[in-house]
Amino acid sequence: MTYVVTDNCIGCKYTDCVDVCPVDCFYEGENMLVIRPDECIDCGVCEPECPADAIRADTEPDMEKWVAFNQKYSEVWPVIYEAKEPLPDADAQDGKDDKLTTIFSENPAQQAA
Ligand code: SF4
Ligand code: F3S
Repeated sequence: MTYVVTDNCIGCKYTDCVDVCPVDCFYEGENMLVIRPDECIDCGVCEPECPADAIRADTEPDMEKWVAFNQKYSEVWPVIYEAKEPLPDADAQDGKDDKLTTIFSENPAQQAA
């Protein structure tokens, strides 16, 4: 199994999850993170760290779509090793509906120069 990031991360990107992951398997898009399923060791420590409750075990119902989503973007976005400031609108975006269809960005995170 694996853990995956789901839609409530979009627009928030709190990144508390990154600091606790022992294998650095989070990857960073412009406005969300994903987990690389084949690198995740299923330790589960990230799940309770997310203030947006966006991390799920793939054993929960209807997670197939999110496993594929996390796989797809973890192959094209850069790895993130350390937590950083949340996105400016994180608290306002937390819990909003339809973020995947309205504000999700496929772009990779901007890398520091
Ligand atoms: Fe990392 Fe563990 Fe979370 Fe997997 S479950 S992403 S290994 S912290
Ligand atoms: Fe996203 Fe939650 Fe991590 S909002 S960046 S999955 S702490």
